[in-house]
Amino acid sequence: MANILVTGGAGFIGSHLVTKFVELGHQVRVFDNLSSGSRANLEHVADRFEFIEGDLCHPEECLRACLGIEYVFHEAALASVPRSVDDPEPSHDTNINGTFNLLLSAVHHKVKRVIYAASSSAYGDSDKLPKTERMKATPLSPYAVQKLAGEAYCTAFYKCYGLETISLRYFNVFGARQDPASDYAAAIPAFVVSILRGVPPKVFGDGEQTRDFTHIDNVVHGNVLAMKVRKTRGEVINCACGGKISINRVIEAINKALGKNVRPEYLPPRTGDVMHSAADIALAKKLLGFEPIVSFEDGLGRAIEYYKSLA
Ligand SMILES: NC(=O)c1ccc[n+]([C@@H]2O[C@H](COP(=O)([O-])OP(=O)(O)OC[C@H]3O[C@@H](n4cnc5c(N)ncnc54)[C@H](O)[C@@H]3O)[C@@H](O)[C@H]2O)c1
Repeated sequence: MANILVTGGAGFIGSHLVTKFVELGHQVRVFDNLSSGSRANLEHVADRFEFIEGDLCHPEECLRACLGIEYVFHEAALASVPRSVDDPEPSHDTNINGTFNLLLSAVHHKVKRVIYAASSSAYGDSDKLPKTERMKATPLSPYAVQKLAGEAYCTAFYKCYGLETISLRYFNVFGARQDPASDYAAAIPAFVVSILRGVPPKVFGDGEQTRDFTHIDNVVHGNVLAMKVRKTRGEVINCACGGKISINRVIEAINKALGKNVRPEYLPPRTGDVMHSAADIALAKKLLGFEPIVSFEDGLGRAIEYYKSLA
């Protein structure tokens, strides 16, 4: 049994990690300011973890969160490319300064390992696919720069202070509890909810852009492996399925699963969005023994059932 801190544990990905670690019998603490997350995301494990409401931007709250902790899963962030383009300052504060505060606190309290939620957005628009960790990062948005800075800090903290870190570059994660209602909702929840209501889903661009859509169970699996591996040295590793699925194909698949035919509304492309994204997952396999455990099709089916249950 280990003492685990999940920052952003009340959010989409964090709440799945909390669920998994509670089920595995670990002692879990959540640190979250509830800006985009909610207590409702953790209702099913209520009373089985400790909750600290606090903000990454307050160093003393980060220190409190890390006290007595062995493993930190750092999920807290102001996620979303368009949000960071519209209003870059708050996401800069949380994603860079907040990550720095957390890493300092982890060193202070001699945390064993920090497992960081990095982002595929760091790659930007490279011509070459799939994207491998050896490629030069060319971030296109403030969010991508911020997430890349977090990785760089994680690696530097290993080199300078011996804090074990590992950055998992998530590629377009989807699944239950991902918020469909926010102004910055991710594609799959927004599309499913629109199509369920018979409203045309909004597509930015021609819909031929591709993503490596990764069901949440694969991401949880990657994190569990990153905790188990004997030692980490500031590595950066893709966490994805290795698929290349177009937005138009996602909409088709959702329509098919729901027995509908709701056509999308095409809008101009958004600033900061990349055109194509697909991961090379060879390094994750080599270093962590990672293989995806849920296919895109099965994961989409599960996500659709979840949003149907809310309707
Ligand atoms: N969802 C994806 O496809 C994806 C892809 C790549 C990387 N990521 C990264 O994974 C992590 C989790 O993303 P998510 O999709 O679950 O987002 P989310 O918005 O559902 O979760 C983020 C959580 O962080 C909390 N938070 C935000 N600012 C905070 C602050 N200053 N102090 C404390 N808590 C704060 C929010 O309240 C929320 O609970 C983020 O770091 C994100 O950058 C996500």
